[in-house]
Amino acid sequence: MIIGGSTSQDLAAKVANILGEKLCYVETKKFPDGERYLKVNGPVEDEVTIIQSTAYPQDENILELLFLIKTVKDLGAKRVKVVMPYMGYARQEKRFNPGEAVSARIVAELIECAGADEFITFNIHEKCVLDFFSIPAKTLSAMPAIAEYVRDDDEKPLIVAPDKGAYHFAQEIAHILDSECTYFSKVRLGPDKVETRIVDVRCDGADEETVNVDAVKGKKVVIIDDIIATGGTIVNAINILKQHGAKSVDVCCVHPILVNGATARIYEAGANSLISTNSISSDTSRVSLADIIAEELKD
Ligand code: R5P
Repeated sequence: MIIGGSTSQDLAAKVANILGEKLCYVETKKFPDGERYLKVNGPVEDEVTIIQSTAYPQDENILELLFLIKTVKDLGAKRVKVVMPYMGYARQEKRFNPGEAVSARIVAELIECAGADEFITFNIHEKCVLDFFSIPAKTLSAMPAIAEYVRDDDEKPLIVAPDKGAYHFAQEIAHILDSECTYFSKVRLGPDKVETRIVDVRCDGADEETVNVDAVKGKKVVIIDDIIATGGTIVNAINILKQHGAKSVDVCCVHPILVNGATARIYEAGANSLISTNSISSDTSRVSLADIIAEELKD
């Protein structure tokens, strides 16, 4: 039985359809004072998979997920798998400054305390977040699906990671498409300000010390990142790519948080297209995670 939380209704319905599983409907609403009401409509089976992303408003969506897990367990479910295509708070995986909450660990512990028996997410920002769970926890990759979306065998794109942390995503896509890939060096100056440097632009196979700024000249480029939030990281990358003669720049990400006018800023910087998965429902969601989730749930 599949249950879609209010953030992932379409995705849950698609997964249920692929698997031929029952989709259980959930009613949610807010009371006038802002408190949340949740009702699971219909009998609950022994094995339940709940699909719920926890992007904005993160706190409400996390609370709804906790209500759902606990309620289906109360109603008789014996085993509950939680599929959280995007995990809110995963970027606060440590105490960067004294006194800060390690939010990712708290969220993981809450999910487990509510009764989850297994946790699945996509391209989690830091893999160490999975270690905060003592139940089986794994991160799946959307890169094969994104690679197929951007595939162009007539003109293989150069795959660019806007920072070193995203380089392994670029490598995964480049490997599937048999393309070249490279990365930039980024320094975060604040929540909505990043500085991107070209000093680390290298192409696979180049000597470690070789700075290869010509790598992008005349190329069709695809930028890949896990998350786009304010778009600052991507805008910097587009600017550098354009300055160095990229022919076109298409932008892809797994998780389209897209706040503070990110979409407009990315197009304004000269992106040819901006696409993402449906880990968070957005106008940019062109790549569905449904098949990957269904395949995972078959096991
Ligand atoms: C962080 O390193 C992530 O991979 C993304 O690059 C980052 O979250 C993007 O944030 P923004 O769009 O605000 O620059």
